[in-house]
Amino acid sequence: MREEHPVYHLSPGLTDSWHIFRYEDVRQLLLSPDVFSSDRGLQGGGDMADANLSFLFNNMISASGDKHRRLRMIANRAFMAKAIEALRPAVQNVVDTRMEIALQTGDFDLVEDFAAQITVAMICEVLGLPPEDMDQIRQWTAVLGDNSGAVTWLPELDPALAERGRLAGGEMTAYFRDFLSRPGWSGEALFAAFRNAGPEGEQLSEAELLSMAMLLLLAGNETTTNLITNFVRLLDAFPDQAARLRADPALADGAVEETLRMRNSIRNIDRFALQDVEMHGVTIPKGARVVVWLTAANRDPAVFDDPDDFKPDRSPNRHLAFGQGAHMCLGAALARMETRTAAHAILTRTSRVELTAPPQLGVNANFDNVTRQMVRF
Ligand code: HEM
Repeated sequence: MREEHPVYHLSPGLTDSWHIFRYEDVRQLLLSPDVFSSDRGLQGGGDMADANLSFLFNNMISASGDKHRRLRMIANRAFMAKAIEALRPAVQNVVDTRMEIALQTGDFDLVEDFAAQITVAMICEVLGLPPEDMDQIRQWTAVLGDNSGAVTWLPELDPALAERGRLAGGEMTAYFRDFLSRPGWSGEALFAAFRNAGPEGEQLSEAELLSMAMLLLLAGNETTTNLITNFVRLLDAFPDQAARLRADPALADGAVEETLRMRNSIRNIDRFALQDVEMHGVTIPKGARVVVWLTAANRDPAVFDDPDDFKPDRSPNRHLAFGQGAHMCLGAALARMETRTAAHAILTRTSRVELTAPPQLGVNANFDNVTRQMVRF
C-alpha cells in the first residue's frame, strides 16, 4: 500500500475512509490540525446525549483548537518530566514485585499477570485510585481496549460488542463520579487541580473532568501493557538480538524504542478532513474520515533501513508510535519509564523467556494487542 496506494480510499458504507501509509505523509498530516481535525464531534457516530458515552466526546484526544489546548494544558502538569521522574521508585517497586512473583510461578500470562499489573498499578498511583480496585479497573479497560471502545461510537459495526463497551463506559463513569464527590480520597488534590485549572479561572465541567479521568485511565494502561508484552515477543522472535541485549542490558532503552516502532500498540488513528485535500493525485474530500497508519509509517523503508529487522541500536529512531504534533502522546514519558524498567528487569533477572503457547490476539483493528500470552521466565 505504501508504494502503490499511498492514499487509499476504502468504501463504501460504514468503513468509508481514506487511508494514509507513508511516513512523511503521516507526519505532515498530524502536523496539520487545521486541515485534519481530531474533533470527534464532527465525525458523527456515537450518541453524545448518552451518559454512558459522554466520555468519548469531552476529552482532549477527541477535541481540537482552543478546547484541546485548554484540556491538554490542565493535564500537562501531572505528566511533566519532573512529575514522572518522581514516580521512578514506585515503578521500580511494582516491577520488582511482579518479577519476584513471575520468577516463582511456572507458566503465567504475561499480559494480565505481569504487564497489566505494572501499568494499572502506576496509573492508579497517578490518579490516586485505591489498589484494591485494580482488578475491576483492568476489566473495564480491557473491554474498552479490545474493540468495544472503538465500535462504541459506531455501534452498527457490532452491536453486541458496542453494548459491552457502553456498559463498561457507564460503570467507569459512575465509579469516577462517586470518587469526585467523596471527601478525602487520594486523588482529591489532583482532580481539584484539574477542575480549577482553566486558564481564565474557569472550572472544568463535570463531564470534562470525568472524561479526562477515563482517558488517562484507558490510555495509561492498555497501550503500555501491549508494549511490554510485545517487547518480550520480539525477544522471542529475534534470539540473536535477545542474546546481545542480555550481554549488554544498557541497550534495553533502544530495544524499547524498536518495539514502539515495530509493534506499536496503536496501529492507526483517525482524523477528519476539514477541506478538500489533494495527495498523490487523489482528492480527499472535505468531511472524509482519514485513517493514519502509524504502523505503516514506522516501517517505511524511505526512513528506516531494514525496517523489518529489530535493531536495538538503531539511531536515529524517529518512529511515530506516540503520534506527532499537538496531540502527541501525553503519557510517553510514563510509558517509556515503565517499559524500560520492566525490560531491564527481564534482561537482567531471567536467563531466557519461553513463550509456552501461541498468543491470543485481540480483535481491535486499531491496536496491535495481545489479550493473552503464556510464558515462563
Ligand atoms: C495520545 C500512543 C501511553 C495518555 C496518544 C497518541 C498516540 C499515543 C499515538 C496520539 C493520538 C492522536 O494523535 O490522535 C501511546 C502509546 C503508549 C501510550 C503507544 C504506550 C506504549 C500513554 C500513557 C498515557 C497516555 C501511559 C497516560 C497516562 C495519552 C493522552 C493522549 C495520548 C492523554 C491525548 C493527547 C492529546 O490529545 O493531546 N498516545 N500512548 N498515553 N496519550 Fe498515549
